[in-house]
Amino acid sequence: MCNVDESVSLHFIHKTFTFENHKDKHALTVSVPEVLGSQYGMYVWPCAVVLAQYVWTMREKVQRKTVLELGAGVSLPGIVAAKCGAYVTLSDSAEIPLCLEHSRRCSELNELPGVPVVGLTWGEISPELRSLPPVDIILGSDVFYEPEDFEDVLVTISFLLRRNPSGQFWTTFQERSSDWTIETLLNKWNLQCTDVPLDIFHANKKHLAGSTLPGNHSIQMMIVKAQTMT
Ligand SMILES: C[S@@+](CC[C@H](N)C(=O)[O-])C[C@H]1O[C@@H](n2cnc3c(N)ncnc32)[C@H](O)[C@@H]1O
Repeated sequence: MCNVDESVSLHFIHKTFTFENHKDKHALTVSVPEVLGSQYGMYVWPCAVVLAQYVWTMREKVQRKTVLELGAGVSLPGIVAAKCGAYVTLSDSAEIPLCLEHSRRCSELNELPGVPVVGLTWGEISPELRSLPPVDIILGSDVFYEPEDFEDVLVTISFLLRRNPSGQFWTTFQERSSDWTIETLLNKWNLQCTDVPLDIFHANKKHLAGSTLPGNHSIQMMIVKAQTMT
């Protein structure tokens, strides 16, 4: 969901994130617009900075890979991947054109005008989903925030990983309730996950990438793959 009143003209504030390499001082700066007074896809969520930091840390692995971001909104992880040399497609709900437009705006402002933006609604095996080219890495930051959508997200991931058996889903989520779990759903959709501790990619900090957003705000990162047959 994206709570934006379409009748109101949009007012942007620009947020800048700088990802650094502690060893050689190499850095990447990304500036994205947020829309004041709106929610969800028009803001950078803490999960996005953590996932973007992971992409930055894995930039050599990401180079020349095909990457799809789901529920991209402001698209910080996808933009970082594209800046690191990946072939990126951004997506958001096909039912929220404002968020799709915002993803397009964010990539263009970062001089990435060729990045395709497609409408993909979780759980829908749509013609747009079926016609995607092969994908190596799927990104999803803060896509597990409404328990009623968890299975829809995993239906989309399961479809993509069946088509791309060596693909991986890199996702960050904020634990908003201790009752939430996706373990049973992962099994149901033949998926397995590995937790990635934030400290191994320097994301367990109070402020991340030169922003005021925290990396340690009950955020977790995991990598989801297709279950292997034994
Ligand atoms: C909490 S926001 C996270 C946005 C961005 N990934 C971030 O972390 O900054 C959730 C995103 O999922 C998108 N979304 C919500 N429901 C969706 C659905 N059913 N299918 C696809 N995208 C959806 C929203 O438009 C929004 O961009």
